[in-house]
Amino acid sequence: MIDERQATTASFTTSEREAVYKVIFSRRDVRRFISTPIPDEVVERVLLAAHYAPSVGFMQPWNFVVIRDSRTKASIKQAFLAARAQEAERFVDERKKLYLSLKLEGIEEAPLNICVTCDSTRHGPAVLGRSLNPQTDIYSTCCAIENLWLAARAEGLGVGWVSILSEERLKKILCIPAHIAVIGYLCVGYPQRFEAKPELETVGWLDRLPLGDVIFDETWNGRVAGK
Ligand SMILES: Cc1cc2nc3c(=O)[nH]c(=O)nc-3n(C[C@H](O)[C@H](O)[C@H](O)COP(=O)(O)O)c2cc1C
Repeated sequence: MIDERQATTASFTTSEREAVYKVIFSRRDVRRFISTPIPDEVVERVLLAAHYAPSVGFMQPWNFVVIRDSRTKASIKQAFLAARAQEAERFVDERKKLYLSLKLEGIEEAPLNICVTCDSTRHGPAVLGRSLNPQTDIYSTCCAIENLWLAARAEGLGVGWVSILSEERLKKILCIPAHIAVIGYLCVGYPQRFEAKPELETVGWLDRLPLGDVIFDETWNGRVAGK
């Protein structure tokens, strides 16, 4: 595997560049897994990729709770079911029916679950770049999750992010200290398949927005600042 020293000669061949985009465009949120175990060295590689994410002031505020035990997963699944029932109440009629028909996690099927946390206290109260934007520790942790997600895809592994969980309940099950925030709960394993499109797009929940709709020139109102 390429390491930090080799990475300093950072130019990419055409096929390497294409591989990066291939990973980005073929990454999916995966909720259906096969039971094939993940070799330890593969788990280590994706965690290392996560750990090499950018972070505010090089804070590296993350921790990864790696969960393999089926009893722990069963408790988390119960927490998910309770949270899903609560969330379902926010939708009505057909939308609620569709919501309840969706598979929104693979907690017990996935051989591995990873709870990604953020420690806002790491390195003390003064972290370079975080003074005016304290939430940047959370952004940093999200960068780690995306690194993990993409590295996993390159390894042929699927990742599914489960946010339909009470943080309080999750922390209790996983014995996470009060001052630590849970940022993401991930199900990881070899997928039944990688879908071509997001499942939420396939079932008609939402469409991908056109790129042009989310880009503004120069300012929010399209005018050069001050003109
Ligand atoms: C912060 C975050 C939370 C998410 N939570 C859930 C979840 O609880 N259940 C689920 O099925 N998918 C969840 N997803 C996955 C999204 O539904 C998915 O990324 C989106 O539909 C686009 O599909 P794709 O990831 O396959 O491109 C989450 C994704 C993110 C980034």
